[in-house]
Amino acid sequence: MQSSPSDWSITTWRNRPLRQSPAWPDAEHLARVERELATKPPLVFAGEARRLQQHLRDVANGQAFLLQAGDCAESFDEGSADSIRDKLKVILQMAVALTYAAGVPVVKVGRIAGQFAKPRSDDFEERDGVRLDAFRGHIVNSDDFTPDARRPDPDRLLAAYHQSVATLNLLRAFTTGGFAALSRVHAWNQEFVANSLEGKRYAMIADEIERALQFMMACGIDLHDDTALQSVEFYTSHEALILPYEQALTRQDSLTGDWYDCSAHMLWIGDRTRQLDGAHVEFLRGVSNPLGLKVGPSIDVDDLRRLVEVLNPDNEPGRLTLISRMGVERIGEALPPLVEALRDDGRSVVWACDPMHGNTFRVIGGQKTRHFDDVLSETAQFFEVHQSLGTWPGGLHIELTGDDVTECLGGGSRLDEADLDLNYTTICDPRLNATQSLDMAFHVAEFLQNYASASGARSL
Ligand code: PEP
Ligand code: CO
Repeated sequence: MQSSPSDWSITTWRNRPLRQSPAWPDAEHLARVERELATKPPLVFAGEARRLQQHLRDVANGQAFLLQAGDCAESFDEGSADSIRDKLKVILQMAVALTYAAGVPVVKVGRIAGQFAKPRSDDFEERDGVRLDAFRGHIVNSDDFTPDARRPDPDRLLAAYHQSVATLNLLRAFTTGGFAALSRVHAWNQEFVANSLEGKRYAMIADEIERALQFMMACGIDLHDDTALQSVEFYTSHEALILPYEQALTRQDSLTGDWYDCSAHMLWIGDRTRQLDGAHVEFLRGVSNPLGLKVGPSIDVDDLRRLVEVLNPDNEPGRLTLISRMGVERIGEALPPLVEALRDDGRSVVWACDPMHGNTFRVIGGQKTRHFDDVLSETAQFFEVHQSLGTWPGGLHIELTGDDVTECLGGGSRLDEADLDLNYTTICDPRLNATQSLDMAFHVAEFLQNYASASGARSL
């Protein structure tokens, strides 16, 4: 595992340029909150983060697939048990389809239990001639459009911690208490296939899974008893943006002496805060959790090489996941040189596809949205790039919710612009709803099957 470098401490980031930082109005208030957070119990344990890295090592070696999914921004107003359950449910359903298609384990990581901070392209938001600080996620300020609501409030760091505790507690119960049993998740998928128009085209995959389960039962495996089929491993992740929060939850592991950011199992660096000399790269290079790095179209091969060297100097498989978010128009040109360069350098990384963040646009005079066809097409191109370079398309990173929202256009339910108003509830980016997410999963299942058969054909 990546040990903390000798020239690093949990505070060295403070000497580096800090991008995307809220203008906290009262430094002493913030410092008080940091001290209080530093006394709180960790949210996750170092051993769990190490275990996730072992699974990600399998992904880096082409022997597992990563599904990382959840909200763009979790909301303080929406931590209900039902909404957490429904999000988990759709991720588990997607994972079953993907597991079957890929023929390898699917590593399940939520953007959940801590995904509260948002980087913004613009520091301000203007509405009808009124200009206020941008909304930066509920860990910083409120999305209401008033001067009071937009003022950064350090007490929100504590509220974010407590909501993460409650969310994680529920996730741990759901994933081990029978809710996630394979036979149950499969039954939900059968329901989706039977009841929706778009689901019908996946009847073949669902039937194959059904036959596989029957085969297992015929062999004497009790689907309702076997512990491996009754519970799932589910990990948490978020963008490590608000470094005072991340530092306060970073602890030294008593077993190894290494430092772990115990706010989540996996942390990622956003596309706007990945400068080599910046505070975010400095902080995260020293924690031993598995890391993600968003890779947008403005990166070049040399930037990427340097970042990979700093974040994963020992070339440990599973330490670093590169999350490509190029956009449907640019991926075909922008991604291949990056993948090729790291492949030729012998760098072990997980490549995951975020087909959401390069495909956001605003409908005229209205909401931010994304078109399902763009999301799907970027993912298809991601698979093609890896197919042609002989590298493993290691994972999918998407924004979704289990609720029946109308935020992204298209998909099987053919949402159009006029439908967006029906149930548009995101506080940040538009998410796939449950149906669109499953639609996506079954498409990706087909990509994985095609990848496997093409690779098999090539190796004959
Ligand atoms: C996000 O994942 O919500 C996000 C802001 O992504 P990016 O840094 O890739 O823009
Ligand atoms: Co987002």
